[in-house]
Amino acid sequence: MHANLVLSQIAEHRPFGGVVPEIAARAHLEQLAPLLTRALEEAGFGFGDLDGIAATSGPGLIGGIFVGAVMAKALAAARSLPFLAVNHLEGHALTVRLTHDQAFPYLLLLLSGGHCQLVAVDGLGRYRCYGGTLDDAVGEAFDKTAKLLGLGYPGGPRVERAASTGVPTRFALPRPLLGRSELNFSFAGLKTAVRRYAENLVPEDSQGRADLAASFQAAVAEVLADRAERALLRFREETGVAGPLVVAGGVAANQVLRDALAATAEAAGTSLVAPPPRLCTDNAAMIAWAGLERLRLGWTSPLDTPARPRWPLESLTAEETS
Ligand code: KG4
Ligand code: ZN
Repeated sequence: MHANLVLSQIAEHRPFGGVVPEIAARAHLEQLAPLLTRALEEAGFGFGDLDGIAATSGPGLIGGIFVGAVMAKALAAARSLPFLAVNHLEGHALTVRLTHDQAFPYLLLLLSGGHCQLVAVDGLGRYRCYGGTLDDAVGEAFDKTAKLLGLGYPGGPRVERAASTGVPTRFALPRPLLGRSELNFSFAGLKTAVRRYAENLVPEDSQGRADLAASFQAAVAEVLADRAERALLRFREETGVAGPLVVAGGVAANQVLRDALAATAEAAGTSLVAPPPRLCTDNAAMIAWAGLERLRLGWTSPLDTPARPRWPLESLTAEETS
């Protein structure tokens, strides 16, 4: 890896308790060109050293995606370089091939702010979705829990930190869909239960908040481990291999969840493969890597490829084989 710069906009969004789309789009517009210059400097590269230009083209908040994709297309056109429109979820899905040289196939548990999915990854662009969330994504559940507990934004890391001093058995929270055969997730009921308990905590009860954070995290860990265990059975039936189980996306930075999933994978006769935490949360390296994998197969993108707010991973299959 030559350069991987992440410019956080968290401070600009914090007063609003979440990402404000208009602020995000403007910040991309202001920051992207200087950030690119810095990345090239850090890598010691000029434009002549590049083989292609990849940019996230969805799914997600369209303003920022649009700014990035237009800039990448303009550079590609000006420099006569191939353009690669990368699906952000595919970036997460392929990160372990960058960090661990992981071969296909594997079972992916994708845990981010907008998604919670189990996906059989058969090859590049070949994704079979086993199930997803029926309501909130798992990262959303962390962010809402943080808000309810007054821990601030961004929620995931703050819930994890608070939970580290909490008692995970203190509050009896529900485990939605535990033991069900369909491989779906649901976090709305868990959030409602957290809200009920949080409303009864007095503001100065920091131990109570830590206990509730730990109880919430334990409930999420148990549900994810249960779903992953079932999905591994199906994956083995369908592919003839036991795993590995791969976890990716911002929530995969959580050590308690990683430990629970590692135990599940081991019990199923396989192992957990997880990128280092800084490559779990959104980053440029995963998009560049996915672009590189596509470029190697000659799967470049036309310059009129649209930026998409919705772009399911499994739709890539049809696209590439058509
Ligand atoms: O993949 P990501 O960086 O952006 C999206 O694609 O959404 O994931 C962001 C999500 C946020 O909901 C954030 O709270 C969560 O990942 N997250 C965590 C942790 N670090 C980030 N959740 C739990 N524990 C963490 N340590
Ligand atoms: Zn992401």
